[in-house]
Amino acid sequence: MEPKLLNILPMETTVSSDGHLIVGGCDVVELSAKYGTPLYVYDESTIRTMAELFTKEFSDRYSNSRILYASKAYINPSIAKLSIEHGLGIDIVSGGELAVAASVDFPAEDIFFHGNNKSRTEVAEAIDYGIGQFVADSFYEIDLINELASNHNKVQNVMLRLSPGIDGHTHKKTTTGILDTKFGFSIETGDAEKAIKYVLTCKNLDLTGIHFHLGSPIFEMEPYDLAIRSVIEFLSPLIKNGFNMRDFSPGGGFAVGYTSEKSPPNISEYAKTIVKALTESCEQFDIPYPRLLVEPGRSIVARAGIALYKVGAIKEIPGLRKYVSVDGGMGDNIRPALYDSKYEVIVANKLNVTDTEVVRVVGKYCETGDILAPSADLPRCNTGDLIVLPTSGAYGMSMSSNYNLNPRPAVVMVSNGNSRIIRRRETYADLMRCDEFE
Ligand SMILES: Cc1ncc(COP(=O)(O)O)c(C=O)c1O
Repeated sequence: MEPKLLNILPMETTVSSDGHLIVGGCDVVELSAKYGTPLYVYDESTIRTMAELFTKEFSDRYSNSRILYASKAYINPSIAKLSIEHGLGIDIVSGGELAVAASVDFPAEDIFFHGNNKSRTEVAEAIDYGIGQFVADSFYEIDLINELASNHNKVQNVMLRLSPGIDGHTHKKTTTGILDTKFGFSIETGDAEKAIKYVLTCKNLDLTGIHFHLGSPIFEMEPYDLAIRSVIEFLSPLIKNGFNMRDFSPGGGFAVGYTSEKSPPNISEYAKTIVKALTESCEQFDIPYPRLLVEPGRSIVARAGIALYKVGAIKEIPGLRKYVSVDGGMGDNIRPALYDSKYEVIVANKLNVTDTEVVRVVGKYCETGDILAPSADLPRCNTGDLIVLPTSGAYGMSMSSNYNLNPRPAVVMVSNGNSRIIRRRETYADLMRCDEFE
């Protein structure tokens, strides 16, 4: 296998002498026989290493920092437990994500509830659980949290999500920090200032900090640098006039390597940029250093996960194209269809085959757009071969659906040559669980 592919596969991935991919010490051909396909395989040590790396890179430069895992990238009880073990807090964006966190007794004070339209029920559930922070996204939400906190005789910690008007230069569907977005209070329109002043008057809210998220994945440092400096400049008079800013979060969105052509910056570069911008602007405007919250999602779990599929039908259109169909697709990975996301493709049982051909790898969903890789240079494929999409640990399973009523794949965690199911494959009964039969 090309060495550059190893950088986008789980850490310590190897190839066996018979050309099989070995992840977390497990032969993926054996995993496919044991658990079936499609299958998501997560390497535990890669998740642990990424969690430790983020913690170290930020706390070495800024001791009062905390990493919050953005659970939207992928959460289930096993992943939530790993987050606790590594001392990470957690970002949630729904009552469902809160329920998963609660299922493993996630420390309430370490839970941060984001999202642009939290329901009354979700806010009440989160206050009941005693979560550390809401990240309020609208005037409506400020009032809602204040009202429900008052009903609970409680003063609730909140942060405000600001929209700093800085473009992270990523896909338009994942750009969130510009003016024309549904997220956050815009600095440019004056809403951010109004919201801060307003929350400070709310009896049942304690405004502890400010958050923004520029989008993802962001390969450049400049957007973080510009956004932090301009947000601190904007906040400085408000802080001098009584806003006690204890927390500051420039979000997540750190890039990962989906293809071997485009390497992401090291975490240390993001940490250096963010810490430098924060400390220099706090000094410049003479404001106290806040706690720094950092919210990686994708970059903790993306590389740890691979998607494993089996080849079924193969269609050749002479002189035009060869289609290789696999047993998953847009139902378990919507990213190529939604964002034109690019992935590498590996034939996991043919890593010692050198005779290659260019094919289009497609899924089994009843959509022409169900294309996992439009043009992949692969060893000649046959029905029954095993296809792996590396870097599939984030926003694959978490955005999955039951489209065409396909059961969702199983998820397996591998570690030191052992494997265990962390989410079983869905059954047809699961698909009808919510239906009435009268
Ligand atoms: C508020 C917030 N924080 C963090 C993230 C994590 O982004 P990523 O998974 O790209 O790191 C997101 C993703 O959209 C987000 O909306």
